[in-house]
Amino acid sequence: MVTEQITQGAQTSTSQAAQAGQTAQPVGVPFDEPITDWRHRHLLDVDTLSKDEILRILSTASAMAEVLDRSVARTPALRGVTIFNLFYEASTRTRSSFELAGKILGADVINVSGSGSSVEKGESLVETLNTLSAVGADAVVMRHHASGAPWLASRTIGGHVVNAGDGQHAHPTQALLDAYIMLQEFGDISGRKVVIVGDILHSRVARSNLWSLTTLGAEVTLVAPRPLLPSAMVRGALEPEHPLGLPSVRVESDLDEAVVDADVVMGLRIQNERLRGKLLPSSAEYARRYQLTSDRIAKASPEAIVMHPGPMNEGVEIAVDVAHGPQSRIEAQVSAGLAVRMAVLFLLIRGGA
Ligand code: CP
Repeated sequence: MVTEQITQGAQTSTSQAAQAGQTAQPVGVPFDEPITDWRHRHLLDVDTLSKDEILRILSTASAMAEVLDRSVARTPALRGVTIFNLFYEASTRTRSSFELAGKILGADVINVSGSGSSVEKGESLVETLNTLSAVGADAVVMRHHASGAPWLASRTIGGHVVNAGDGQHAHPTQALLDAYIMLQEFGDISGRKVVIVGDILHSRVARSNLWSLTTLGAEVTLVAPRPLLPSAMVRGALEPEHPLGLPSVRVESDLDEAVVDADVVMGLRIQNERLRGKLLPSSAEYARRYQLTSDRIAKASPEAIVMHPGPMNEGVEIAVDVAHGPQSRIEAQVSAGLAVRMAVLFLLIRGGA
């Protein structure tokens, strides 16, 4: 019987997280008791999470961060569980932090890539998933170039599915770790002004962040040249009067105006592998109008923080001094990814029906 607790205290439920307000403070997480009030089996995006559920994940992540501070950062919370990291696309941060998260929680973690697996011999996604099921996968953490691939996986295998980034659709654990950093910084992000600038068109990070940030009450401004905006946004799909409208989201083309008084300025990577030389006349022209420079950050709130999901094209979407300057939280984002992914695996696998 595992008796360890991450922190002392009673099992924390969604309603307790809500009572604690908008916070990422650690909560008691007994490892040896079933979690009876977590309803999600999979994490495909953050749009299915309520505000209380997002806060529950983030407060659990804070407790996981306390585990990481121990001299021996290990717990047996997922002992006996087998997790497959199935990555069809390149990744450094997400893949390594999911692998480490599973190992710290005591799970067996197996990495499978598109290259080097039977995918190279023509095996289909469904057959690969069935194979992982047959060898005992309790959970599959999946990155895929096709939007919707984790959704297909969730309907193919019996275990849990975690979306680690699918096509241009969603990157839920990135959005959760971004919210974790903002809550750490500001305590409450309701009413905070978050500017997201860059290749919105191809960005699963921007899409997931739109859901989580608006659910937490932030005011979001998206900034991009028109070719790097989804056509629906160019046509005003986010305007309040539009049927799909999100009242707390604006679309701007002028970064110098958008950053004024911002609390968070988040740059996005120019996704050259998806642009294939199209849509942008030149990196230099893009940098002139949309690069996060110290002059532009100076127009934001004096307490503003700079974020970027990485990997960065330094000197294109973000200046080197801003990327590594005092307002940057980019390294902290990477570190937070480990605790947040531990929390996601723990809640889904121990609690998800
Ligand atoms: N932010 C992010 O998903 O980075 P990786 O591609 O390195 O995982």
